[in-house]
Amino acid sequence: MKKVVTCSQMKLLDHGTIHNMHVPSLVLMERAALATAEEIRKYLEKKNGSANLKKERILTVCGSGNNGGDGIAIARLLHLAGIRSEIYLAGNPDKMTEETRHQWDIAMSYQVPVMNNPVWDEYTVIVDGIFGVGLSREITGNYKEIIDHMNEAPAYKAAVDIPSGIHGDTGAVLGTAFEADLTVTFAYKKRGLCLYPGRAYAGRTVVADIGIYDRDRDGSELASKAAWHMEKSDVKTLPARKPWGNKGTFGKVLLVAGSKGMCGAACLSASAALHGGAGMVKIQTVEENRIPLQSLLPEAMLTSEFDEEANRKNLNWCDVLVIGPGLGTEGSGKERMLWFLENGTKAGKPVILDADGLNILAMHPQWMKFIGKQTILTPHMGEMSRLCGLDVSKLKEDPVARAYQYAEKSGGVLVLKDACTVVTDRNEKLYLNLSGNSGMATAGSGDVLSGIIAAVLCMYLSCEEEQELSYKAALAVYIHGLCGDIAREKKGSHGMTAKDMIEALPEVLKLAEV
Ligand code: APR
Repeated sequence: MKKVVTCSQMKLLDHGTIHNMHVPSLVLMERAALATAEEIRKYLEKKNGSANLKKERILTVCGSGNNGGDGIAIARLLHLAGIRSEIYLAGNPDKMTEETRHQWDIAMSYQVPVMNNPVWDEYTVIVDGIFGVGLSREITGNYKEIIDHMNEAPAYKAAVDIPSGIHGDTGAVLGTAFEADLTVTFAYKKRGLCLYPGRAYAGRTVVADIGIYDRDRDGSELASKAAWHMEKSDVKTLPARKPWGNKGTFGKVLLVAGSKGMCGAACLSASAALHGGAGMVKIQTVEENRIPLQSLLPEAMLTSEFDEEANRKNLNWCDVLVIGPGLGTEGSGKERMLWFLENGTKAGKPVILDADGLNILAMHPQWMKFIGKQTILTPHMGEMSRLCGLDVSKLKEDPVARAYQYAEKSGGVLVLKDACTVVTDRNEKLYLNLSGNSGMATAGSGDVLSGIIAAVLCMYLSCEEEQELSYKAALAVYIHGLCGDIAREKKGSHGMTAKDMIEALPEVLKLAEV
């Protein structure tokens, strides 16, 4: 896992390194500039196929804050490397920070050329050092015009730390924003580089180590409430399958899903749980679904009984419950959801509440009391909107804040599904997901996720290692995204379907076997 920070957390970390560890801010700036200049040099070398960079022309556009200071240092390093590198000062020279003023003086001593009226389409690379994490309000006026010119230019575009105009915490565009091909960010990814639209504006993101220290003087962790994102190495930490295990040890999933004429969602969720390694899956559904489900998925067991005795037996049998795919919101679906949510929670079983399970909850908010700390709720933006009564556009303004609020209110783990899925629990553990692609925005994709979450919970049943439920949910979300990435490679983002993601699951889980 890697840390993802907010702007204020990053400022705290910068401050700690400078004031507690006595690392001068100019040293941090130099390291930031070296890392960025190196990425630009690598790009130019790759583009030219040789180390001859003489014909390139680079413009670095600088603000008067410290992001501008980084930019000026980058321009100086490229200039000293023999590349035609020029500075355009977009910020007010009278408002330069102490460090930026210092960088300016160094650059002037080395005679780095300064442009007053750059011809924007003459450059092979444009570097954006206007605003970093200090951006505090909408970009307007002259700055807006400059950013628009930069965006329109045919150059390769590199942003320093974060594209100017992107809100570092929410990823929102503040007025206008630089559209980067590459963003070199320092120490940690910022939230706004993970959340959309910021992530799209950042292009390829490289995290450069500039020597930021993450501890306070007393050794305690600074920014301890930072978020995390998963990586492939985290999939490798999944518990190994015990050689002496049997289908009972590898977890039993009870899937309460499907209504009359609606068995596809149940089939996808069950199939994902089975391909994810769950030992046994039983689908609690309506009798009408028996023949199609058993033909489509003979590995799954099926029950259509719904009375106190049968329900108790099924509940006692299972280790994990998934409630909701294709359930419908009325009649038997509602009764089945209520019985299994209430009793599953009372029995202390992990419950994944998905799809119509969430829609039923939105219609009957009094049932919130049946959500426990073992419940994982997996709403997409539409379902979340129904759950908390806010418009999708409002939710998208700050999905992390909305996810925190609802996790706190419900007492469960919230998986807020979107292009960047947010996972959090009432303890404010926070995960932002970086795997996956737009091809996953296809019917059934969410059903596959609920099955994968169930499978991941099953994997941890027979292992001694304790992991929090939010961690397991976040890892499942990441795995789901990797399945989507493999499916896209094979079928393309237009042609891939939910089934392709399930087919990719064994390949992803093989990572855990090496
Ligand atoms: N319009 C005009 N000026 C603005 C706006 C705006 N919309 N928003 C912020 N400013 C001004 C602030 O008043 C401040 O003077 O821009 C400056 C902030 O610039 P930054 O360089 O983003 O902030 P700063 O905290 O100085 O530096 C942080 O430095 O550590 C490096 O690149 C790293 O992102 C990091 C940056």
